[in-house]
Amino acid sequence: MEKPLTSNIRPGQEPPDLHAYERAGGYQSLHKALGSMTPQAVVEEVKASALRGRGGAGFPTGVKWGLVPNGEDAPRPKYMVANGDEMEPGTFKDRLLLGGDPHQLIEGMIVSGYATGTDVAYVFLRGEYKLAAHRVSKAIAEAYKAGYLGRNIVGSSYSLEMHLHVSAGRYMCGEETGMLNALEGKRANPRAKPPFPTVSGL
Ligand SMILES: Cc1cc2nc3c(=O)[nH]c(=O)nc-3n(C[C@H](O)[C@H](O)[C@H](O)COP(=O)(O)O)c2cc1C
Repeated sequence: MEKPLTSNIRPGQEPPDLHAYERAGGYQSLHKALGSMTPQAVVEEVKASALRGRGGAGFPTGVKWGLVPNGEDAPRPKYMVANGDEMEPGTFKDRLLLGGDPHQLIEGMIVSGYATGTDVAYVFLRGEYKLAAHRVSKAIAEAYKAGYLGRNIVGSSYSLEMHLHVSAGRYMCGEETGMLNALEGKRANPRAKPPFPTVSGL
């Protein structure tokens, strides 16, 4: 079944707030994942869906989630960074998706965070995307208020903190390891891999 990511976006209109997003079926995936599935089952379902990343390489999302060390022995805290740097000339998909339906991003990050055992999540956003920054930070506040972020999300044992980080602005900040350096307050030079950021990063 096709599920266009733009289905809630109306040009020229405000993005759906939390209640409008819920009325359109939003946060149901979160309830399903956290309420009735193990993190491993979520990873398997995303693998089976054949969902792919939008960072350029089309890397399979479920495979990426499955590469994150999980379980009792995994190092903590674990961080997740959503890459909204988008400095590629002529590319505006993240601006549309983040500014047009921010709760969709947030719900996806929470489900991903649950699947990977993430403790703290960042949205790394291009500095010029002022309207998207305003809308994403408003949506994060709404999600905290509704119990979708913070401690014991929707009564589960899973907790997640989420922050918006607005980039100081360099194309290199979009490269995943340069982004981690930028978030740490360093120059956004890329790091040598391995280790890959799915295993060791922020
Ligand atoms: C110079 C450079 C800039 C990049 N900029 C972005 C970007 O703005 N957004 C992005 O998602 N990925 C960007 N990437 C790719 C990331 O390093 C990474 O592969 C990607 O965020 C993974 O996304 P995915 O999990 O959706 O596949 C860039 C890579 C390079 C080398």
